[in-house]
Amino acid sequence: MKVAILTVSDRSAAGIRPDVSGPAIEEFIRKHGGEIISTAIVPDDLLEIKSVLESWCDHLGVDIILTTGGTGFAPRDITPEATRQVIQREAPGIAEAMRLESLKITPHAMLSRAIAGIRNKTIIINLPGSPKAALENLNTIIRVLPHAVELLKENPNAEAGHSFPQSP
Ligand code: MTE
Repeated sequence: MKVAILTVSDRSAAGIRPDVSGPAIEEFIRKHGGEIISTAIVPDDLLEIKSVLESWCDHLGVDIILTTGGTGFAPRDITPEATRQVIQREAPGIAEAMRLESLKITPHAMLSRAIAGIRNKTIIINLPGSPKAALENLNTIIRVLPHAVELLKENPNAEAGHSFPQSP
């Protein structure tokens, strides 16, 4: 699995606050056998977010882009809107599963507006901004990501993966 990570944060982009979530996600993905192809930090700016997402999908050939941050209710939280303008097909089950599991941990999960979707051969998934929240959400979906990538790539062995998700 080739993965790219986009941290969306005004403060981290300005160098005021270190990006903790991006590296935490990187470590998590490596531990689960994924390869990190690229990482970047952008402010909560629609055009900047869109531009990185489009460029990674269209020129980098990554399987999965994980964004972190900008999914809440603050006026500048705009990551889901930027993602929606970039994807061609939505993958609502991924966001539904993340909120469902996260609600067992905190009612604040209701405040996540995260979405997931597909552009060409890349899956884009919004994660929350805090490292704890990002990893909790990632932990919920990690087990289905290899099969999702196989299906998107029309891998002839993808059918075999249908029997997998019995236990975490
Ligand atoms: N999901 C999990 N699993 N754990 C959390 O602590 N925090 C929530 C939510 N999802 C949280 C979570 C909070 S407080 C917010 S505001 C939203 O994610 C959006 O976070 P963001 O604005 O940092 O993207």
